[in-house]
Amino acid sequence: MQILIDEAGATGEAADLEALYQPPTLPWLRVNMVSTLDGAANGDSGKSGSINNEADKSVFRALREQADVIVVGAGTARTERYRVAAVPLVVVSHRGLVPEQLKDAPPGKVLMAICSDSLGLEGARETLGEDQVIVVGRSTVDLVAMKAALVERGFRNLLSEGGPHLLRDLLDAGAADELCLTWVPRTIGGVHPRILEGVPVDADFRLALLLEEHGTLIGRWIVERR
Ligand SMILES: NC(=O)c1ccc[n+]([C@@H]2O[C@H](COP(=O)([O-])OP(=O)(O)OC[C@H]3O[C@@H](n4cnc5c(N)ncnc54)[C@H](OP(=O)(O)O)[C@@H]3O)[C@@H](O)[C@H]2O)c1
Repeated sequence: MQILIDEAGATGEAADLEALYQPPTLPWLRVNMVSTLDGAANGDSGKSGSINNEADKSVFRALREQADVIVVGAGTARTERYRVAAVPLVVVSHRGLVPEQLKDAPPGKVLMAICSDSLGLEGARETLGEDQVIVVGRSTVDLVAMKAALVERGFRNLLSEGGPHLLRDLLDAGAADELCLTWVPRTIGGVHPRILEGVPVDADFRLALLLEEHGTLIGRWIVERR
């Protein structure tokens, strides 16, 4: 993998992804996504696994290795059949339905961020345990408050793996600090979600890093506060 652009000045082979992806400060919340050239955020299987590739997976793993916690939308946790990871997984949900495959997770491995008017709140508490359910916001999850609650619990390097509705909401709330995005050199046409879905949101970014491997472009864009 080659470094094409690095605002910190590194050049040549991207040998040390851990160093290239250091957060500039902590706490820090980054979102990692993948897209085809024509903007599809999933492939024919309905999962991102049908559009990603080895270069994307190396960065996906490097980001997971340095994260203290993984934050994922309930839609992605369901579709991608998320399982317990090395670090705690926080599922963001309004409905409060804990995905089946996460129900028997060891204590502390799966948390849910939920809002107070959720009909699933009590069920989530029963399934995961009261301490694992973070109630922030009333009719929707307050993502700035969720971030603060996670930092309060000692999680400072926060990695979100989407999906498109959660990324949209994180940007709209001003809770995301960075977008890590892989462009795989494919087009697939058809009807697929983009990496942002839902009500329009306009956000600006600064390119901090651009890597390339066999035509795959992998970037770090820092959110520019307005
Ligand atoms: N290309 C990529 O990098 C990438 C990454 C991830 C996912 N995906 C793909 O995206 C698709 C899933 O899309 P999606 O939009 O459904 O994913 P999503 O954003 O993970 O899930 C949406 C769901 O998450 C919960 N949610 C998100 N933001 C919330 C908020 N602010 N407050 C309360 N709840 C919130 C809600 O769950 P409840 O319904 O439980 O209330 C909502 O229905 C799949 O095909 C997946 O493969 C692609």
